[in-house]
Amino acid sequence: MRTISPTEYDITADARLDKRRLPRHIAIIMDGNGRWAQARGKHRVEGHEAGARSVRAVIEGCRELGIPALSLYAFSTENWKRSKLEVNALFRLLSKYIQQEIDELDANNVRVRMIGDKAGLPQRTLRDLEYCLERTHENTALHLNIAINYGGRAEIVDATRRIAADLHAGRIAEGEITESLFARYLYNPEWPEVDLLIRTSGEMRVSNFMLWQISYAEIVVPETLWPDFGKEALCDAILSYQQRDRRFGGRT
Ligand code: FPP
Repeated sequence: MRTISPTEYDITADARLDKRRLPRHIAIIMDGNGRWAQARGKHRVEGHEAGARSVRAVIEGCRELGIPALSLYAFSTENWKRSKLEVNALFRLLSKYIQQEIDELDANNVRVRMIGDKAGLPQRTLRDLEYCLERTHENTALHLNIAINYGGRAEIVDATRRIAADLHAGRIAEGEITESLFARYLYNPEWPEVDLLIRTSGEMRVSNFMLWQISYAEIVVPETLWPDFGKEALCDAILSYQQRDRRFGGRT
């Protein structure tokens, strides 16, 4: 099996990419850690650990290309169904990742945001996350959105509840409820819509990820398992995106 480091690729030198037509927001469903580990006779948790290196690679890649927003699906509301051992390991890994990477993220002008329900997260993970969000909140080069305990339907239901509350309180009128108003009630209202959705490992599902924001996203589903996904694979996914004819429901 070929093992190259996910970060080992000069993405800015890839002449195939049209630097004027880069996606403004990439969202990634990082899938295949378990299968990657299983193929090597390792525990699933080692697959997630290897996956953290790919996280580093795609952040670096987006930063180097000047892509302004990246969203990563780290833990879905459905992931609680996994074994306690795996769930605990995932949260430990998140804390470890933040502690190890925070200085570099900050030095590289990356702003970290979180979407999802903070209730129920381990105290330690929450504390590390809050520190990271606070420390990077003035950074501007790349907005990194980590989805933890996140569900797309829950986000839409939350937005609807808050709209209903504003309606009842007379802060908005029924006639003002439009798509653009609705979008302002989502978790990160100021973010651009997702242009490119990547799901690794060949699975053709959106799994409740950013359902509103991916409405017009181009979807790329490489066979690559997440721990093998690096800058070169990111480049290939962007190339696929650039080869698509984006019509947004209209005709050219
Ligand atoms: C899906 O693979 C992956 C996850 C549920 C977790 C993703 C988490 C990481 C990559 C860890 C680090 C994250 C950050 C943001 C630092 P799977 O376990 O479902 O794989 P399988 O389908 O092959 O079993």
